Amino acid sequence: MSGAIVGAGDLLTFLDGCPTAAWAVRRVTEVLNERGFRRVSENSVWDIEPGERFYVVRSGSSIIAGIAGMGKPAVEGFRIVGAHTDFPGFRVKPDSERIREGLTTLGVEVYGSPILATWFDRDLTFAGTLIEKNGDTLSRRLFVLDQALCRISTPAIHLNKGMNEAFKINPEDHTPLILSSSGPAFDAVLEMACESAGIVRDSVAGWSIEVWDPQPASLSGIDGEFICSGRIDNLAMCHASVEALLHQEAAPHTALIALFNSEEVGSATVNGAASTFLPSILERMSGGREEYFRAVSNSLFVSADGAHAVHPNFAGKHDPSCRPIINGGPVLKINAKERYASSDISSAYIQSCADSAGVTLQRFVSRNDMPCGSTIGSITAARTGLSGVDVGSPMLSMHSVREMAGTRDHSAMISLLETHLRNQGQR
Ligand code: CO
Repeated sequence: MSGAIVGAGDLLTFLDGCPTAAWAVRRVTEVLNERGFRRVSENSVWDIEPGERFYVVRSGSSIIAGIAGMGKPAVEGFRIVGAHTDFPGFRVKPDSERIREGLTTLGVEVYGSPILATWFDRDLTFAGTLIEKNGDTLSRRLFVLDQALCRISTPAIHLNKGMNEAFKINPEDHTPLILSSSGPAFDAVLEMACESAGIVRDSVAGWSIEVWDPQPASLSGIDGEFICSGRIDNLAMCHASVEALLHQEAAPHTALIALFNSEEVGSATVNGAASTFLPSILERMSGGREEYFRAVSNSLFVSADGAHAVHPNFAGKHDPSCRPIINGGPVLKINAKERYASSDISSAYIQSCADSAGVTLQRFVSRNDMPCGSTIGSITAARTGLSGVDVGSPMLSMHSVREMAGTRDHSAMISLLETHLRNQGQR
């Protein structure tokens, strides 16, 4: 399927170009700028015209982009796709450089729920944000380093005999990064970061530094049918959302994508899915409070996030019947405890989108003895009153430093989201 491989190539480039959530938003804005979308600030007067392509960024790491409808949102509603820009990993702690046993180490804080063991013995480096002070103005400057600079090392098996049976990781004691054997080195990291960001060292008033694995994403499997990379959850769905939006024309309804930071830490932040970001944009687009409530009741939200594919070596982890496979198509997520937004009618809606897109839809439901994850779908539904449905591409090794998904699923997901954004009839 040559179309799928071309789409996958673009996804690999996107994955490699987004070492942090802020970089993901930067990459998305670069594409949108090229395609004629106008940046609108939340602090300026709302002046979006019918049919206009626009985007809004909040706090540098969440973005809402869309094509304003030709009709009134109160009548025509919104078609929205949501995804998240963040992923589990590590952030450098302040004042954490120490020299111990002859080696310079740097303390980190765990962000979200990474599979900690997968981060050991990798060639790691740094990316993030420097705060530049210019007179009285503070602004964010992104930097990315791609040469290996640090590492979280395992002890030798000889010194830790039972480690293949149980390698119990203490997230505080075992994760400090090994950075140097020749004395303090963090200042050199900051120098490199400044060079990458194009700012002078004296102007740095603060920083947020994350650890990332710079190994490029790759295609694997005998036919290149697997995508292997860090950050697939959930940059793959961000990429699919953007692709789906770029394929839209102006329509009576408004098509939007909302890519939120902070999903991996519960979404209750200034720009997470539980924030005012989406409802405030919807209200401003609707032209008033009463119109906003009417618009919301005429709208649909599709939440796209990684889904758990069945693993041949751990097959017992899945429900006996609902067993999504990699490259078997996008997954509809269902949960009786309402951890997903999917309802009887929204599930039927996304099935009808899949039918008209010619896409096979798989189903995921958890075993009763295994909790399912949560995502932005139900949070958004509760926060806004938008009817929603949760979908995702099937993947293995979710939250590993190196995850795995299917090439064909990615193009099928783009078709599904595209069909939803275009859909005028059903609500
Ligand atoms: Co996710």
